Parts: sequence; structure tokens; C-alpha cells
Amino acid sequence: MLGDLAHRATASRLMHYSGLTLKTNRIPVKTASADYSVYVGNDVFPVLRRQMASQSGRRVFVLSSAEIWALWGRRFLEAFPAGAQPTALFLPAGERCKRLAQVERLAGELAAAGADRSSLLIAFGGGIVGDLGGFLAAIYMRGIEYVQVPTTLLAQVDSSVGGKTGANLVAGKNLIGSFHHPVAVFADIGVLQTLPDRELRAGLFESVKAGIIRDAALFRFMEKNAEKILARDPAALERVIAASIRMKAEVVGKDERESGLRMILNFGHTLGHAIEAATGYRRLLHGEAIAWGMLAALRIARARGTATDAECARMERTIVAYGPLPAFRASAGRLIEAAGRDKKNRAGTRRFVLPQGIGDAVVVEDVTDAELEDAARWVLARARG
Ligand SMILES: NC(=O)c1ccc[n+]([C@@H]2O[C@H](COP(=O)([O-])OP(=O)(O)OC[C@H]3O[C@@H](n4cnc5c(N)ncnc54)[C@H](O)[C@@H]3O)[C@@H](O)[C@H]2O)c1
Ligand SMILES: [Zn+2]
Repeated sequence: MLGDLAHRATASRLMHYSGLTLKTNRIPVKTASADYSVYVGNDVFPVLRRQMASQSGRRVFVLSSAEIWALWGRRFLEAFPAGAQPTALFLPAGERCKRLAQVERLAGELAAAGADRSSLLIAFGGGIVGDLGGFLAAIYMRGIEYVQVPTTLLAQVDSSVGGKTGANLVAGKNLIGSFHHPVAVFADIGVLQTLPDRELRAGLFESVKAGIIRDAALFRFMEKNAEKILARDPAALERVIAASIRMKAEVVGKDERESGLRMILNFGHTLGHAIEAATGYRRLLHGEAIAWGMLAALRIARARGTATDAECARMERTIVAYGPLPAFRASAGRLIEAAGRDKKNRAGTRRFVLPQGIGDAVVVEDVTDAELEDAARWVLARARG
């Protein structure tokens, strides 16, 4: 298994690669059911190449999208020995295609191409390819191994780590899925060169979130270095991405199934998801909606005093620094209703994440309708543009 190999080979591989000018960070993810590594660096393809060289004898498939393949397919294929090139499958771009129908189609393609239980699937793309590819791997022949090679900042810092896979229903996003961890993740910062600016910013909001809820040093770094980070300075990006992944790996390691601690990752997401739903998932990118959701949550934190005014102001300024946040319109009623339907709620209780200062957060269940309405109205007034 790739996981075992990755583990046994870690020490020698690190020595081997210490000779390269670019350093690759290895971040371990250890949960109750999984144990794997995330490799992060400005060129992780040599590490991928080395690991693929040891996979002889097994069929390798790659799921990507035509857009990403056109940009980076050749670079990706260099990681495979001649004669052992993976078979490519494609998913059309967009949230509309993150559907069970695509999983069935792709499973049919895997079967037609002779994929068996020992085959390996590599998801090479953004969060949509990663989530759907992971889900395909979770259910094809009751589960095959898969590797994540995330190509968006959001997928690198968030969706590729933690084992949540899935697809959308008409009734809502990510309503079907499975926990199925990858056997390894390769987050290559080089591929972010071609990422549109807006997508980069949207992913960075999740990193600001990581700093606010759990890593004060990451927050301070992002507070001070917004210009450098937005200019894609490789060292600055690497620092942000590695710290964000470390935070997520640590949280998921302690609470794989989101029964407690992992809920803090939903900071900004109660109202953020509601904003996405109320705007038909068209107006805002996920990270942008979450940025608005974090600003709304900070309004509640400030009023309750879970963080000081000064801390709230710093957090707000830092979120805004990674903008612009696109304007949107929605009715407060719609937002509150959508927040009530959030799938993180349990048995009628509304769970809400509030920062306690910078680098620490708490999940509360007593946010009142009035507090939520005030936050929703405040954010709507600000978002009108
Ligand atoms: N599993 C999880 O824990 C988790 C967490 C957060 C989000 N998600 C999911 O992730 C998805 C969103 O992921 P996303 O933001 O990566 O969106 P995405 O996969 O749609 O990618 C965004 C856009 O960037 C393009 N792109 C990707 N890599 C590129 C590159 N290197 N250069 C140029 N263009 C590139 C894609 O073609 C696409 O148009 C959602 O479906 C969300 O539900 C999952
Ligand atoms: Zn998110």
C-alpha cells in the first residue's frame, strides 16, 4: 500500500530530497482510522515521482478536469515512468457536475478500463475533483486507495485533508458522501501560479480562519504579510499553506468524525453556507461567503465579549485585507432560514463557532435568534455594495 510505503520510506526520502534546493515539508495526519502524509512544497512532483516508481504492478488512474489537464497535465505525467503512465478520466468543471451521475459514469469507465481492488486513483484538481474523486474511490469495489494532488489553494489548505468526500444533491451541497482518507496528499505550490486571483483569495480566507481558530502565529503572519502573500511570494505561500494544513491535520487527528473539536473548522460557515444558499451558489465563491460569515460571527463575538474589541477589529481587518469581498443581496429572513437548515445543526440545536481571542475558538449552542438576525442584517447592510 502506498501508505505503508510512504511511512517506511520517510526517513530515506527526506534525506534524499535534502539535496534539492527546494524543501518539501512532510505533515503527518494520524486519525483513528488513517495514517498518511501531506507533502507541501514549491515542487513536490519529484516526491510524487519517487513514490510512483515504487507502485509498479498496480494500475494507476488519474481524475482531473480538462482545464487543469491542459495547464498541468504534462507536468503531472512526468511523475510517472515511461510505460507506466496513468489512465486519465475527466470531470467537467463546476459544482453542477459534483453529482452522483458523474460518479456512476466514472465508475463505469474505471470498470471498462480494468480497474480492480488494487488500483490507485489520483485526484488531480481543485476541491470538486478531490471530493468527487475521493467519493468514487470510497465506493468503487467497496473502496480503493486514492491520492490527492490538490491544485487550488482551497483544496490544498482544506478539502484534500481530513477524509471528507462527497457529492451534491439537488436538495443541498455535500449531502451524500463518505469518510475516506487519501493514502497521501501532494500539495504543490508551483501549480498555484495559474490559479485565478479570485480563487487564490477565496482559499486564503480559509487560512485566515485557520489562524483565528487555532494558530495565532499564522494569524499574525497573515496580518502582517497580506501584500506578499497576495503577490504569491513562494516562501510566504508555503508558510501559510503548511501552517493551515498542520492545523487541520491536528484537529482532524483529535476528532476525525466531527463529534467535538472538528466543529471549530466551521467558524464562519453557519452564515457562510446560508449566504451561498441564499445567493444560489452563483454570486460568491465558497471562501468569499465564508469571509462574510466570519465577519458576521465576529459581530456576535464582539457583542458577547468572547474576544475584545481590539482583537475583533484585528480579525476583521485581516479578513478584509484578503478581499475584495464581492457584494451580494439577500433577505435577512432567507439567510436565517438557511442558517437553520445548516447540516452541522443537530436535533434542533444551532451550533455556532465563536473566536475566543485570536488563535482559539469555542462552539456554543446558545446563539439566539435575535443575535443571528442582528448579525445577518449587519452583514447584509455591508454587503449591499
Ligand atoms: N472535503 C472537504 O473537507 C471540503 C472542504 C472544503 C471545501 N470542499 C469542497 O471543495 C469544493 C471547492 O473546491 P475549489 O474551491 O478548489 O473549487 P474547484 O475545484 O471548482 O476549483 C476552482 C476553479 O479553479 C480551477 N483550477 C483548479 N486548479 C487550478 C490551477 N492550478 N490553475 C488554474 N485554474 C485552476 C478549476 O478548474 C475551477 O474552475 C466544493 O465542492 C466544496 O464543497 C470540501
Ligand atoms: Zn470552508
